[in-house]
Amino acid sequence: MINKEFARTLNDRLREHNPEEILQYFLREFPGKVALSSSLGAEDQVLTHMMAGIDTNAFIFTLDTGRQFAESYDLIHRTQERYGIRIKVFFPDHAEVESMVNEHGINLFYQSIENRKLCCHIRKIVPLRRALGGLDAWICGLRKEQSPTRDSVEPVVWDETNGLIKISPLAEWNNEQVWQFIQSNNVPYNPLHDQGFVSIGCQPCTRAILANEDQRAGRWWWEQPETKECGLHKRD
Ligand code: ADX
Ligand code: SF4
Repeated sequence: MINKEFARTLNDRLREHNPEEILQYFLREFPGKVALSSSLGAEDQVLTHMMAGIDTNAFIFTLDTGRQFAESYDLIHRTQERYGIRIKVFFPDHAEVESMVNEHGINLFYQSIENRKLCCHIRKIVPLRRALGGLDAWICGLRKEQSPTRDSVEPVVWDETNGLIKISPLAEWNNEQVWQFIQSNNVPYNPLHDQGFVSIGCQPCTRAILANEDQRAGRWWWEQPETKECGLHKRD
């Protein structure tokens, strides 16, 4: 039975294991029922590299909000070529996007937190639910160190919102470990990272950061740190 209790047991068992071992376990035990949700960010590229090394048919998907950087689209292509894999792309519902934009404006997210959350909901959350349909577990690139909203991330948890297991194999990794892995394995990455972009989401909602700013300062920079989650990752 896959439930909260089971997720807790797995976390106790796997939390001391390294990310590759965690991925191996889930790909072996839940064939076809586990997927990586990739934003093509640095962490997700690390996980893609590891997963492709285990199984080139492993399920990897990305949510295309329609507002991403050209560099991110290019990276989907480069990653597929490099590893001989397919990254499945999920899109938002066109009618929902159309009525939102025509009612609230093309750049509605700058006007209020409510508008910003509506946009994230339509462009990310609804497609995520569709992507997770029928799965037992999903993998994401969350790390404790990324922000105050993520300091309690555990490798395996029960995702109450979506009703399945949520795996964060890099929960304990720091930024240096991510970049060391990318460099030593020649993992393809978004060139915007070399221009001061640390956490990369949609183009209108992401900016480069200064050396003294925190890792997620460039996301929805006009909002307070506590509100800076799009809803993909609610604290359970
Ligand atoms: S966000 O919630 O602020 O957008 P962030 O960019 O830090 O999240 O990414 C955290 C994790 O959420 C990623 O490692 C990835 O697993 C998932 N994620 C974020 N954006 C996407 C996306 N567009 N498509 C698929 N997964 C995503
Ligand atoms: Fe919309 Fe910005 Fe959220 Fe992207 S990050 S879905 S553009 S509000």
